[in-house]
Amino acid sequence: ASTGCNLETGCYHLVGSNYFCGPYVISHTYWVDAGQPGEDPDNPVDFEVCLKNPQCAEAAVEGYMKKWAQDCDHDGQISCNDFARIHKAGPFGCNGTWVLTTDFWSTFKQCYPD
Ligand SMILES: *[C@@H]1O[C@H](CO)[C@@H](O)[C@H](O)[C@H]1NC(C)=O
Repeated sequence: ASTGCNLETGCYHLVGSNYFCGPYVISHTYWVDAGQPGEDPDNPVDFEVCLKNPQCAEAAVEGYMKKWAQDCDHDGQISCNDFARIHKAGPFGCNGTWVLTTDFWSTFKQCYPD
């Protein structure tokens, strides 16, 4: 939902926002919360290398969800709806409604209808 699984997605700054990398559009903070998969003390851009690699980026998503899993939409279960909200809005804003109006959410819903 972030890039259409575009494996060519590099790293870039979003205006007024963070620095994001890879097909899942993940920030350094997210990667740290995920447990820093692919960490390499000898490589200052180890997070960039990880997040551009689909398997490592997926490990980051899994680590992040393990840390922050919660019932964002208060429907009584923690489902992919919650994971998509957490991915896009983070753990503290995932209950908000703005996520539901993003292109990210529309694309996600095509893959994961209610
Ligand atoms: C989301 O949760 C926060 C923190 O609990 C709360 O302050 C906020 O009002 C909630 N927002 C919505 C849209 O429910």
